[in-house]
Amino acid sequence: MKTVTVKASKIYDVQIAGGLLSAAGESLTKLFPAPRKVMLITDDTVRALWGDRLIATLKDVGYTVSEFVFPHGESSKTAATIVSMWEALAKENLTRTDFVAALGGGVVGDMAGFAAATYLRGIPFVQFPTTLLAMVDSSVGGKTGADLAVGKNLIGAFHQPSAVFCDTDTLSTLPDNIFADGCAEVIKYGYINDPELLELLKKPFADAPDEIIARCVSDKRDLVEADERDTGARQLLNLGHTAGHAVEALSDFTISHGCAVAIGMVLMAKAAVTAGLCEADVPAHIEAMLKAYHLPTKCPYGAAELAQVALSDKKRKGGSITLVLPDRVGNSRLHPVPADSLTEFFEGGLK
Ligand code: NAD
Ligand code: GLY
Repeated sequence: MKTVTVKASKIYDVQIAGGLLSAAGESLTKLFPAPRKVMLITDDTVRALWGDRLIATLKDVGYTVSEFVFPHGESSKTAATIVSMWEALAKENLTRTDFVAALGGGVVGDMAGFAAATYLRGIPFVQFPTTLLAMVDSSVGGKTGADLAVGKNLIGAFHQPSAVFCDTDTLSTLPDNIFADGCAEVIKYGYINDPELLELLKKPFADAPDEIIARCVSDKRDLVEADERDTGARQLLNLGHTAGHAVEALSDFTISHGCAVAIGMVLMAKAAVTAGLCEADVPAHIEAMLKAYHLPTKCPYGAAELAQVALSDKKRKGGSITLVLPDRVGNSRLHPVPADSLTEFFEGGLK
């Protein structure tokens, strides 16, 4: 088993291994001695596949378990679902010594975390991520929230989990396209600042899943510890995301998040080369890596439409927008550009 310890406003372990869902109860009793109430929050797909084994271990160690199950998918990530979660927590009389168990992908983790952050002004929660994206990104670092009709993740709170259990067995039931989306985020860490991860990724993911996930988690841990509230270094995690979010939105979300981030990484690398800010071999390196993981690299949209959407994103600060640009293979940095030069900058990425 791999363990990564995060020392943010809360200190917690991220454990990575096969079989953790069935064994989690014992380790949880060290944090939350029984008896306690636990609200399992999950979606319908994950409940059917993986819910029983988590419930069994929670009950075995003496917890009282209730469930809140919602329909899978981003369309459930709404304020209305959060209200239903609060009502379920109140109906079951959970108190601040009880906890929420979030079992699922990023949608479950973000919303269960937000419900836990706000119910009774904050109760503990534990993450059991079941997608690759959730294991390497969303379950770590304490960003929680939900979407509004006008945009994604517009409501939320920082609320660190008390523990994270990445049971890599759960990846066995992931559809290929959802696994590939997670691979885009894994690859992203390599180009932010982890050239050794890029070496590991030259071999098939299945050769070393725990090692790869642990590397990504410790890369994210380092950025979260340096900048928990996301005002500086943590923004490096947005590599590929500024253009990627625009691609996702312009496609009316028919291009998935991971595919859009992949396209966004290539675009930013090419734009950085055109601007004289990046070594010339980087775009081809990124493209080859993405293709090996069955991810797209070509952007179907023009610079002006991408810039228009990117500038409406919440990452914009007044008259400038902070981009994440690779400068060599395995390293990226933050680069603010004036909002009115973004179209020209993106044009450099579409040559
Ligand atoms: P998701 O939670 O919607 O999961 C994708 C699909 O996979 C769902 O249909 C789900 O039911 C299914 N699924 C989950 N685990 C499965 C398994 N083991 N086997 C079979 N099917 C399974 O999406 P996601 O890609 O995990 O997460 C995306 C969300 O994460 C977005 O809402 C995004 O905003 C958020 N996010 C948050 C952060 C953060 O720091 N908090 C970071 C990145 C992304
Ligand atoms: N996924 C971006 C962050 O956690 O900051």
